[in-house]
Amino acid sequence: MTMREVTEMKPRKLGLELLIDLLEGEHRKVESELRAVSGMIAARDPGGLGRLLQSLDEELLQHMLDEEASVLAVLIKVYGKERSAEAIKVFREHRRIREMMADMKRKFEADPAECMKSINELESFMLEHFKKEEVVIFPLALETQRRPKKAMV
Ligand SMILES: [Fe+2]
Ligand SMILES: [Fe+2]
Repeated sequence: MTMREVTEMKPRKLGLELLIDLLEGEHRKVESELRAVSGMIAARDPGGLGRLLQSLDEELLQHMLDEEASVLAVLIKVYGKERSAEAIKVFREHRRIREMMADMKRKFEADPAECMKSINELESFMLEHFKKEEVVIFPLALETQRRPKKAMV
């Protein structure tokens, strides 16, 4: 993905409930793609892995953009920055995920065995990240839609 494509990327215009359903579905898809990446490294299939890493990259960029531009924006609007501190912390992990992805691509080119270690790290970091979003952040965001007045108290 080029910088031009990244800067042109826009948040998807969807209602919050629909967006969160979509984001959770993408978590499941990324999890299965990550499992496929491990298999490709084991089978030494660089072409397949390269294509998969690229599509993972594009999916994750759109996904993280939506989380920051829509989910986090709603939380800050309703709860304020201080009470959204946990969500801000979790979404800051996006930078780490992007760094790990870039690192993984570099390592794969240099040494597939080293890359295997990164993928395990990336996979567990992302699983934890998805869990925090689904258990804490998304329910909090949905609560603002269902009971906006109460949530503001
Ligand atoms: Fe995220
Ligand atoms: Fe997510």
